[in-house]
Amino acid sequence: MNTLLSVEDLTVEFKVSNGKFKAPDGVSFKILENECVGMVGESGSGKSVTALAIMGLVPKPQGKIVKGRIIFEGKDLLKFNNHPRGTKISMVFQNPLNSLNPNMKIGKQLSEVLEQHYGMSYKEAIGKVTAMMKQLGIPEPEEMIERYPFEYSGGMRQRAMIAMAMLCHPKLLIADEPTTALDVTIQAQIIQLFKKLKLESKTSIFFISHDLSVVSQIADRVIVMYAGKICEISKTEEIFEKPLHPYTAGLISSIPDMKERKTKLRSIEGSVPSLIDPPAGCRFHPRCSQKMPLCMEKEPDDFSVNDRIVKCWLYKGVYQ
Ligand SMILES: Nc1ncnc2c1ncn2[C@@H]1O[C@H](COP(=O)(O)OP(=O)(O)OP(=O)(O)O)[C@@H](O)[C@H]1O
Ligand SMILES: [Mg+2]
Repeated sequence: MNTLLSVEDLTVEFKVSNGKFKAPDGVSFKILENECVGMVGESGSGKSVTALAIMGLVPKPQGKIVKGRIIFEGKDLLKFNNHPRGTKISMVFQNPLNSLNPNMKIGKQLSEVLEQHYGMSYKEAIGKVTAMMKQLGIPEPEEMIERYPFEYSGGMRQRAMIAMAMLCHPKLLIADEPTTALDVTIQAQIIQLFKKLKLESKTSIFFISHDLSVVSQIADRVIVMYAGKICEISKTEEIFEKPLHPYTAGLISSIPDMKERKTKLRSIEGSVPSLIDPPAGCRFHPRCSQKMPLCMEKEPDDFSVNDRIVKCWLYKGVYQ
């Protein structure tokens, strides 16, 4: 399959009151056409900033892309004046209320996207909006277009946001924690909706969550982030069958197993390091049960085998 997006050595530097740090820090990955790539990692690991960098929306003035390339359909988005945001690349966020105008009916807000990008009349646009809302499981869309965001439930608002993001049939849909703010039942419905989108549209999906069990339900491949760096990229089935990085193994063993509720959950001991003054060598070493002297001194190389990538000294000499 062809590569749709190639992120190469992406580094974003933040200047804050007590110093500066990088997150993401030298991150590289690809998203293929029709592929769903998931990204997981604890809070502050750089997932949202990676997504914002792809969207050309790194928060200024605190944040700045200091290194890297983001190649989309052969063009470097960092050098391209005409960013395809909202058309070929669109994004849904954790809290749809932040992205919706509270004083405008949903139908009007969504139809404006088509009016602005394609010069459609309201009548034509609203027809497409209603059809998209129906496709995304919003019941009675003819009536729902007349309602305001506050009249929607959380789940329906997120469906409306996904409809908005899909209106221009983007090549890439970025979803940053789209289910995190929802309760468990609604969360499951939205995950089902992403699965349906994956099957029925040609859109590639970049799906971000701190929850590996959520990501694993829809992603073909998973990127695991830790403290601004990628520690592993593997196919979803492989990551569960045999996690390579000790951090990935820790994440998997901390997923509650519904069948074995009695088993005590193992969480990874310790906490995420400060990015301003990160540990030397491998950033995960203070929490790693398999650390070796080398891990405290030198940042691990990326080792790869059969399309899997792992940034860990355990694989030195095992993988190339
Ligand atoms: N506007 C900003 N100003 C200063 N620092 C920021 C800003 N936005 C993000 N950061 C910092 O950049 C780092 C990466 O943040 P990011 O939002 O990408 O994390 P994340 O992996 O998405 O975490 P979460 O799971 O909490 O959403 C964090 O340390 C965060 O505090
Ligand atoms: Mg985030």
